[in-house]
Amino acid sequence: MNAHVSPPLKAPLPSLAEVARRMVPRYTSYPTAPHFSPAVTPQAYAGWLEQVGTRDEAVSLYLHIPFCRSICAYCGCTTKASLRDEPIRAYAAALHREIALVAAHVGRVPVSHLHWGGGTPNILPPDCMAELIDDLATRFNFQAAMEHAIELDPRHVTPDGARHLAALGVNRASLGIQTLDADVQAAIGRIQPFDVVATSFAALRDAGIDAVNADLMYGLPLQTLAMIEDTARRILTLRPSRIAIFGYAHVPWMKSNQRLIDTTALANSETRMEQAALARAIFEAAGYVEIGIDHFAAPDDPLALARKDGQLRRNFQGYTDDAATTLIGIGASSISRTPQGFAQNAPDNLGWQRAIEAGMLPTVRGKAFEGEDVMRAEIIEALLCGFDVDLAAVSRRHGVTPATFADALERLQPLIEAGFVARDGDHIVILRHRHEIARVVASEFDTYLSRGGRHSVAV
Ligand SMILES: C[S@@+](CC[C@H](N)C(=O)[O-])C[C@H]1O[C@@H](n2cnc3c(N)ncnc32)[C@H](O)[C@@H]1O
Ligand code: SF4
Repeated sequence: MNAHVSPPLKAPLPSLAEVARRMVPRYTSYPTAPHFSPAVTPQAYAGWLEQVGTRDEAVSLYLHIPFCRSICAYCGCTTKASLRDEPIRAYAAALHREIALVAAHVGRVPVSHLHWGGGTPNILPPDCMAELIDDLATRFNFQAAMEHAIELDPRHVTPDGARHLAALGVNRASLGIQTLDADVQAAIGRIQPFDVVATSFAALRDAGIDAVNADLMYGLPLQTLAMIEDTARRILTLRPSRIAIFGYAHVPWMKSNQRLIDTTALANSETRMEQAALARAIFEAAGYVEIGIDHFAAPDDPLALARKDGQLRRNFQGYTDDAATTLIGIGASSISRTPQGFAQNAPDNLGWQRAIEAGMLPTVRGKAFEGEDVMRAEIIEALLCGFDVDLAAVSRRHGVTPATFADALERLQPLIEAGFVARDGDHIVILRHRHEIARVVASEFDTYLSRGGRHSVAV
């Protein structure tokens, strides 16, 4: 009998393209939204809100406006089309009631950040917007240096509209641009020539809103490297404060509008990586600072300063310098974060409105932090914000030993051997030329991932 036993076959090292194709969450929260459950009730969330006022801390407010004039084929946001103003006015009226409900629980707390997202917040009729801000300013205590930011569709920015926003205290605007290429714009159902974008920048700056961000995308149908370069260079002429370049997340099982996208015209993961790398090289050469996986900021922008000081944070709006531990989401589908956990409002406008009309907080699900949630959230946030994490320091803060992460480190080993990640004892660093796989590295510390949820590709 032959006593010779062959050594176990070692799995081949992963290629970068294989890693980039992995389907992992975007980690704007941890635990991520697929793991929210109805266990977080309106009563539970009310209890969390009651405690906000007892801490001497400023909070952030997020208001969701889920309306657009038309729906872009690529859109992954929670929104619906409305050509008429009536449903938008009815929604604004319900927002006032939700603001009153929330304020009754938290009291007149200070606010450090106010963010209008969507959808398209500039679809709100000017009088509705003014009344909502008045209401918020009465029920909450706006700090003098409050960042007041809004997401805008440049096709609907006018000089009058920009002046109105500035008069209401808006001091930062993000414009949805995606691409300046006419063929790609046709393929994604969003025609928006450079002139429209340039005019919007000028209108906002003339009105006194100097901090203007540009939201771009890569991985769109028909998009080539030459188009990425052309869009990046033309956008730079407008001197945005921040530039986000999001990889197109194709999730047609969640967003039926994306079925209009011709999947045969989508780039593969190698090309997507090249597109992201090219954009990064162009923005860095122009003096912008890399912020996390998909943002860039002018060196004097608060986000670049927060990155430098290790104060960068990640929340549902992406990267932020907002240090508040409580983010209160208002409006259909909004998610709130408190030190106790996440709470999400009813995602559909009707369900949300019904709860509010019944005098109830419209919470339908969420996640109370338990076990290792807060510790793992800290690790994931560190990897996505600074591309490194000191597991010994995290362990000390949370009263565990680094052995807690033995499984994660074992799973990371192939990425280390492939030269994407470095490990020095308990210090994990995503190498500079491989920052794009940060979501994959973060996912190795996610103990919920194997329990389900379908995600978009990592790069
Ligand atoms: C919520 S939208 C709001 C902006 C505004 N409605 C507009 O389109 O101009 C914010 C940004 O999310 C990004 N985005 C939307 N759908 C996406 C998707 N499927 N994948 C990646 N990014 C997406 C786009 O850059 C978009 O401008
Ligand atoms: S990208 Fe903006 S305008 Fe287009 S559907 Fe989404 S939220 Fe609306």
